[in-house]
Amino acid sequence: MGEFPPFPAAARAAGEAVCGAPIELTEISYRRGAAVWKAAGPEGAVAVKVGDDEGAAVTQREAAVLKAIGWPDYLLASGEGEEAGAAWLVTRWFTGPSTGQVFAPVRRDMDGKAGALSASVDLCRAVADLHASGWIHSDLQPAHGIHTDHGVRLLDLSWSWRRGLEPTSDFRGGLTHLVAPELAAAINIGIQPVTPSAAAEVYALAGTLWTCITGRWPLDYAAAGIDPVQLTPANLRTHIAGRRVPLDTASPWPAFQDILRPVLLGRTGDRPTAAELAESLAKVAM
Ligand SMILES: Nc1ncnc2c1ncn2[C@@H]1O[C@H](COP(=O)(O)OP(=O)(O)OP(=O)(O)O)[C@@H](O)[C@H]1O
Ligand SMILES: [Mg+2]
Repeated sequence: MGEFPPFPAAARAAGEAVCGAPIELTEISYRRGAAVWKAAGPEGAVAVKVGDDEGAAVTQREAAVLKAIGWPDYLLASGEGEEAGAAWLVTRWFTGPSTGQVFAPVRRDMDGKAGALSASVDLCRAVADLHASGWIHSDLQPAHGIHTDHGVRLLDLSWSWRRGLEPTSDFRGGLTHLVAPELAAAINIGIQPVTPSAAAEVYALAGTLWTCITGRWPLDYAAAGIDPVQLTPANLRTHIAGRRVPLDTASPWPAFQDILRPVLLGRTGDRPTAAELAESLAKVAM
């Protein structure tokens, strides 16, 4: 992960105001210029994200999204760090497994299917609620839904967008392995700014669930004779946009994957809404 950036004094003060003092910091991740800590004190825990250099603008945008979205009990504080070019935000710490973690027993030995299925329905409904409120998350992945006792909380809203909010010119479709073909094409053509869509998000949602089941990305790169690690994201998007990579044929949970497959292979306009996907999954027989 590399050495974490300095922890801003103002973020510490904000954390202590919520959690009590002293707070203990646990390093969670540090990627692409954004560091995340869990800060825990006698009265609770928060997540602190600090964006330095390339991550500063992205972290600043996430704070702006969280302010605009106005979820109660989510964003607690944000600011421009005292370190030049840094930005930080403090959010409530959400306790519970990610969608990917809920599926761990399924991937291991097809255990825990009922829990995984109901978590999937919950995730789809959370995305449906988000879409109903006019927002697109734009970076769904197995780690970005946390299943708490009080429902699903979505994380990492750096790229989230609603009509009327300035789309960001840096948006590259979220995780490349889960980008919808039409979005991959729009990005590669160089249309700017690229606006996310609910239909592309449903593709990412289905791809997320597929990956949760199989532990592999939905597309079978080896079958297409390509190694995604050797390709630039733009090259990978060219393959995805051209639908040159077949869907993985591994099918450990046919009844579930039979619902996801048409979402991943079908035309954009034929995709279900997130709410419809939730209803289809709710009917999967155990
Ligand atoms: N509020 C929170 N509650 C619980 N866990 C959190 C919270 N915020 C972040 N995390 C944990 O930290 C990880 C990284 O956070 P996040 O995805 O927001 O950061 P990122 O650096 O932008 O990640 P990415 O690699 O997706 O760009 C999450 O996957 C999750 O495990
Ligand atoms: Mg993330």
